Amino acid sequence: MVVKNLYEKVADRISGLILEGTLKSGDRLPSVRKLHKQLSVSISTVLEAYRLLEDKGLIVARPQSGYYVKQSLAIASEEPKLSDPPISISTVDTSLVARIYGDINKPGIVKLGAAIPSPEILPVAALNRLMGKVIRDRSSLIHSYHTPEGCQSLRQEIAKRAIDIGCYLNPDSIIITNGTTEAVYLALKSVTKPGDTVAIESPSYYGLLQTLESLHLKALELPTDPKYGISLEHLATALDRGGIAACALVSNFSNPLGSCMSDAKKRSLVKLLDRYNIPLIEDDIYGDLYFTENRPKAIKAFDTRGRVLYCTSVSKILSPGLRVGWIIPGCYQTEVKRLKMVLNLTTAIATQLTVAAFLNNGGYDRHLRKMRQTYRVQMDRIRAAICNYFPPQTKITRPQGGQVLWVELPGTIDVMNLYDRALEYQISIAPGMIFSPSKSYNNCFRINCGLPWSEDIDRAIQILGALSQQQLANKVLTSKYS
Ligand SMILES: Cc1ncc(COP(=O)(O)O)c(C=O)c1O
Repeated sequence: MVVKNLYEKVADRISGLILEGTLKSGDRLPSVRKLHKQLSVSISTVLEAYRLLEDKGLIVARPQSGYYVKQSLAIASEEPKLSDPPISISTVDTSLVARIYGDINKPGIVKLGAAIPSPEILPVAALNRLMGKVIRDRSSLIHSYHTPEGCQSLRQEIAKRAIDIGCYLNPDSIIITNGTTEAVYLALKSVTKPGDTVAIESPSYYGLLQTLESLHLKALELPTDPKYGISLEHLATALDRGGIAACALVSNFSNPLGSCMSDAKKRSLVKLLDRYNIPLIEDDIYGDLYFTENRPKAIKAFDTRGRVLYCTSVSKILSPGLRVGWIIPGCYQTEVKRLKMVLNLTTAIATQLTVAAFLNNGGYDRHLRKMRQTYRVQMDRIRAAICNYFPPQTKITRPQGGQVLWVELPGTIDVMNLYDRALEYQISIAPGMIFSPSKSYNNCFRINCGLPWSEDIDRAIQILGALSQQQLANKVLTSKYS
């Protein structure tokens, strides 16, 4: 636990107001005298705090006028460009993921490496209350087997909400799964056979890579834009060449890049894949976490031939532990249902009914609004801290939703070295290579914004920045004197 000085605490309060948007670019800060009276701290404490905020690049002093929020706050760092993976078919080996997962779960670790929402921002009390009611009211039903497609009441709630993603669905077109992970597994297994190649974004969520590996599938990594998603030009070339059995991607606020395709691009993607009769596995787990005005549509909304297998869950919004997700498999419904039955017959009933009750009782939209605001603020704060502490050439994504940031360090930095050094300080990050079958991105890492801002996180980012600066300085020295 880091103990902060009084002036640092004052600075934290003000930076919180800036990053939450209460104080906007160009706004005048309270005068030193006013803050001294309001907070009952000395004038020198306020001056120290303002000096610290100036050093962090958040505010500027204007002679004879006072302190102002910096105008250029929103453009403090550059964004990464279109990725450039080797475009060749790779077998998938995710052994590094197991090591990293083991490290994340060690006691006392600051978990910047895992994309997990902290229980503090989840509606834990409401869910527990509803689960208690489900257990009391449906005491026998929850202990019986159910059908592979899952509870009707939950599928009805999901069908109602599907209008938000641009889909008009019958509840019978939905199959409940154990999270998005099982949905993606069922989708891939239904449309491929061992040895097939799947076209994916690069970098791609490592959980997808683990599924490809376990199904003995190969991957074709395609260049991906951090804002707009997979390159359709490269996908078209790959499809033209042949040998692609399916395409799998995260449509909205992807993990790790945070990209989100426009409606026009989603429509073009469906058309392109239809031309080659190729199914698309769409993972939309982050779609509800938008910071913009409206929820982005699903690619499924543009699917006229039933070839998009839509997968998602409540893991990022309600609870990853309930393990409730679903798949809308389109024309692959029969095969997905058969495989679900073979794999585990059905999804646990108590958790399905709990989620159905939460979706039905009207609290979901309010909770979502709060979640989106929380994630946006946390992401802004973490971005600002990275801009502040990391080498100036560092690039950071600027997603319009979701939960993660992708950080590209100056090319000479070895992120596995950074990973090992950070662990000595009890900090975990997700190194870039675990998102790529070709082990690209050794100068990148992903950072989780699902944890509420705290002094520990600020300090962890400060340490990561210092370790990066140190590595960069050592590299310069070595190249100079070798
Ligand atoms: C893109 C993506 N898909 C799927 C998952 C896992 O989802 P679930 O917990 O619903 O299985 C994650 C979790 O981080 C994810 O980021």
